[in-house]
Amino acid sequence: MLNNKNILLGVCGSIAAYKSASLVRLLIKAGANVKVILTTDASNFITPLTLATLSKNPVYTQYFEAETGVWSNHVELGLWADYMLIAPVTANTLGKMANGLCDNLLTAAYLSAKCPILFAPAMDLDMWKHESTQENIAKLQSYGNLLVAPGKGELASGLYGEGRMAEPEEILAVLEFEIKKGLPLLGKQVMVTAGPTYEAIDPVRFIGNHSSGKMGFAIAEEMYKHGAHVTLITGPTSLKASNGIKRIDVVSANDMLEACQTHFSGSEITVMSAAVADYTPVDVAQQKIKKKEDHFNIELKKTTDILAVLGKQKTDKQLLIGFALETTDEENYAKEKLKKKNLDLIVLNSLNDKGAGFKTETNKITIFNSAFQKKAFEVKSKTEVAKDICSEILKLTNFS
Ligand code: CTP
Repeated sequence: MLNNKNILLGVCGSIAAYKSASLVRLLIKAGANVKVILTTDASNFITPLTLATLSKNPVYTQYFEAETGVWSNHVELGLWADYMLIAPVTANTLGKMANGLCDNLLTAAYLSAKCPILFAPAMDLDMWKHESTQENIAKLQSYGNLLVAPGKGELASGLYGEGRMAEPEEILAVLEFEIKKGLPLLGKQVMVTAGPTYEAIDPVRFIGNHSSGKMGFAIAEEMYKHGAHVTLITGPTSLKASNGIKRIDVVSANDMLEACQTHFSGSEITVMSAAVADYTPVDVAQQKIKKKEDHFNIELKKTTDILAVLGKQKTDKQLLIGFALETTDEENYAKEKLKKKNLDLIVLNSLNDKGAGFKTETNKITIFNSAFQKKAFEVKSKTEVAKDICSEILKLTNFS
């Protein structure tokens, strides 16, 4: 969820500031980019060096660092953030945030931020219970900020009660939940096929193709990032998929057909990017074929066109996206396949385009929808191409 997300963490002067070290560690471990702003008081509780080391970024404490002459731009910091966390936030900073005061870098960045903001208070129980604190919290919530409520326990004063900052793991869980909530494909079932298929000739040989699986894997990852439950059915490849993706490894076109048949009815969006063999040997030799004759023929039979089969089974609630890899008369062949296989979109790549095809890191695609409307894209990395494909799919759903 947090992979590559920009998290701006504000830390105020409370004993709970020591927990921000664990929080930064958890965020970094989850793949986030973290920048930290400490108030001057907070740096009495935890050193900038600790948080700079853990976040792998310089820590900001004031607008202007006299020693270095560096001015920290609060607007830039606020706009950099995908999410801002203020943990711990003291009664004092809560009051400032609720009333638009910004006499330090943290509160100025808060006012500049346009992203969702989570705040995790820490204070003694009487300060927490005070009407002004509760009013400030209500005000902040009414602005759309999200409270990560403090827990009960022994407080720094020795008193027992409410006011302890939520644990870093809880703050992380709330943040992850928030991120998930906004995902356009949250909980949707998606099936993606990828890679080549291998059709056995004998125990040591096969008919295959040059597909690396990169395009399909990138699409699966992109769908997963959008919150979908992804089943990735892949032919032989050395690529790795994220842990959250359900991966099914297959070898032959027939194995892929069976796996697709098992999962298709439950899939709301299906993207068939595998380079499935069109022909397979009629007989597979049980023993290694020895070289004898000068000429040697293998009789082949057609494999089942999986995409065409799924196109026939497709219901109104399902979206089916296919690929077309062409070398001549590209657009006409793609449109023909779109219609014949009953697809919602077809992604065309032409081997005549530089930067497109099997073994490259890049691809160049043109997408046609079922009304034959065309959208052509530039050469991009396969990850960027996957984003384009996903956003075209999202336009067809009412999940976006
Ligand atoms: N496809 C499939 N099963 C097959 C062959 C292809 O599901 N046995 C799917 C591919 O995953 C792709 C689409 O069909 O999404 C088009 O594949 P492509 O190889 O471009 O075209 P074919 O339909 O096989 O036709 P041809 O090889 O004659 O161009």
